[in-house]
Amino acid sequence: MKHFTIIFKPDNKQISIHAGATLFDAAGQAGIILNTVCGGKGTCKKCLVNLEPDGREVLACQHYIQNDLTVIIPASSRFFEQKILEHGIDTQIDLAATVHEKYQGKISAEKIFGIAVDIGTTTVVAKLINMTDGECHATEAIINPQSRYGDDVISRIAYAQNDEKLTELQKIITDSVNDLIRKLCQKTSTDSNHIYEMCVVGNTTMNHIFLKLPVIQLGQAPYKAFSLDAHDVPAAQLHLEMNPAGNIHTVENIAGFVGSDTTAVALAVDIDSADEMTLVVDIGTNGELVLGTKDKLYAASCAAGPALEGARITCGSRATKGAIEAVVVNDDPDGIGIDLDVIGNASPRSICGSGLIDAVAVMLDLGVIDATGRFVEPQQLKEKLPPTIFSRIIEQDGEPAFCLYRAANVSERKVFLTQRDIRQMQLAKAAIRAGIKLLQKRIDLEDCDIERIMLAGAFGNYIRKESALRIGLLPKVPLERIVFVGNAAASGARMALLSRHYRDKARELARKIEYIEIAHEPGFQDVYADSMLF
Ligand code: FES
Repeated sequence: MKHFTIIFKPDNKQISIHAGATLFDAAGQAGIILNTVCGGKGTCKKCLVNLEPDGREVLACQHYIQNDLTVIIPASSRFFEQKILEHGIDTQIDLAATVHEKYQGKISAEKIFGIAVDIGTTTVVAKLINMTDGECHATEAIINPQSRYGDDVISRIAYAQNDEKLTELQKIITDSVNDLIRKLCQKTSTDSNHIYEMCVVGNTTMNHIFLKLPVIQLGQAPYKAFSLDAHDVPAAQLHLEMNPAGNIHTVENIAGFVGSDTTAVALAVDIDSADEMTLVVDIGTNGELVLGTKDKLYAASCAAGPALEGARITCGSRATKGAIEAVVVNDDPDGIGIDLDVIGNASPRSICGSGLIDAVAVMLDLGVIDATGRFVEPQQLKEKLPPTIFSRIIEQDGEPAFCLYRAANVSERKVFLTQRDIRQMQLAKAAIRAGIKLLQKRIDLEDCDIERIMLAGAFGNYIRKESALRIGLLPKVPLERIVFVGNAAASGARMALLSRHYRDKARELARKIEYIEIAHEPGFQDVYADSMLF
């Protein structure tokens, strides 16, 4: 088959690829990850690149290669390193029943290391742990390179429909874990041969791809997992760069859309001994919820969609450099204004999920949008709003929009939210809030009965509690009842890595937590519609 040479700028990377491949494939082959919100369907327009010499703009996922090309990749189309939440809660681990005992006598105790891995749809986090004292020596994180096949698990499931594609996705993730192992070993001068144990958590799809278990059934009702069980696999079988005699343990999944990462979160926050009514919320493309006390626990997954991760929002992005992550109203003596916090102290070029929640809360407080999410008519606002705020209401492609930032230079770069963006965010927040309400309904619980809300995961950690309450994402509880628990999934993975006791507990938890299919709950449609309101 004919091959062509593609040069990517400004990276100056050159590859050779067969005719008919897309520019998207070519970029992937060159190790450049592009945005792919729609999974390459050509609808999100987030993978725009320019062709030399005339600068013509094309969608990388839709451009089929028929000749040699030089391609310029603009920053806005790159899947930048996002802020990755590496740290979780530090749990004192009882090392009484430790996993490392099985290696004792064969190797000296101080040379037994383990790795705890959390494979997320977007990020992969790994921790190097001394198995004898439980100490974490280093943490490393990377973007999950499978992201080039789509932002959400549905796109990955759609891709991995046959054995060849599933093998390809599995290799991508095991290569990434090997990358992380190398980085961890380099950082700590550890011999990878001294790594004897690995414990892996992730959502059910990531878990299945890692183990190369079929995923087709996860994409079709009733969305059943091929396996909910824990697995122990020899390291050599997965070609992981650790001691070939080592063992890889994957933690139990709860259901098709509630994976071992939720089991690990439940383990880390010790929900199993909670006397207080506790709600755990892990917000991502799928929001995972656990509600209850030690006596009875329920879990659900809500298809929030990627809006809260910045996708399907006109100026949206993940939490990358240049993304607005916080929006607050200031009360300057010379006129009320709006302050922005931007990741990396850069000039704003997009808005990420936490900024989006803040911005909508601010727009509600200012009266720019009403409780239904509709932009209020500008004539009505002119009288009420100070000119510094009123001037931010603009028209964008024929619809009202609120401008958060406008560059002073000629490029006229703006970051704004349109009516359609508000609707997208409403859909996402309604999915999460409806999920919570339906779980509450199951156990006849009012908002005020919830004694603790634990926000887990990268996103949860950066949102402002006040704004989350203002837009109605979370039940109405006093602020002090809301706590952030960081990357609790990675913390839970560490616990299950080190101790048999926690592996047993994880198994019990995964079987004890009752999965509720939210969309089948009575009144789902009404609760969902009601949750759209702010
Ligand atoms: S338009 Fe190319 S990935 Fe969405």
